Amino acid sequence: MGEALAESDELVDELLSADIIVAGVPMYNFGMPAQFKAYIDNIVRVGRTFGFDRSRGDVPYWPLVPEGKTLVILSARGDYDYGPGRRLAHMNHVEPGVETPFAYIGITDVHRIAIEYDEFADQRLRASIATAEEAVDKLVRKLARPEAHATAA
Ligand SMILES: Cc1cc2nc3c(=O)[nH]c(=O)nc-3n(C[C@H](O)[C@H](O)[C@H](O)COP(=O)(O)O)c2cc1C
Repeated sequence: MGEALAESDELVDELLSADIIVAGVPMYNFGMPAQFKAYIDNIVRVGRTFGFDRSRGDVPYWPLVPEGKTLVILSARGDYDYGPGRRLAHMNHVEPGVETPFAYIGITDVHRIAIEYDEFADQRLRASIATAEEAVDKLVRKLARPEAHATAA
């Protein structure tokens, strides 16, 4: 058992030692790639990132990851209009699929930046990349300010 969990332990240690988690998660058939799902299955760990105690009654689960961490989801998709409120938003299970398990373990400060139009390979893709790069620069400036994610010393 210990051997089987060694890699999961390492991934949990890495997660717990990070202030900011940057996840590159392209859209594969409307959801996250299998590799990223496997990562999530390794870091959502009872006793390490969430608690479970049946004696608590109807809600026996609680998050164990200390407050103050930030998740940045960098995504890419071939088609377009998957953003909140857009035409295909209901088919986008990438960010929601990532955010739900992270929130479950206690990471709720989330930023999303995505590139669209990859499969069109035209001016719209170039514009989408430029917009995403600007958003990344702005986010880096925000997160680099110590007060943006200050934790108790
Ligand atoms: C297996 C697979 C499935 C894909 N499914 C979708 C999809 O459901 N919707 C979409 O808009 N693009 C889809 N795409 C396009 C990718 O999201 C897009 O090309 C993205 O830029 C790939 O990122 P990557 O090069 O980091 O893998 C898919 C690509 C692959 C390889």
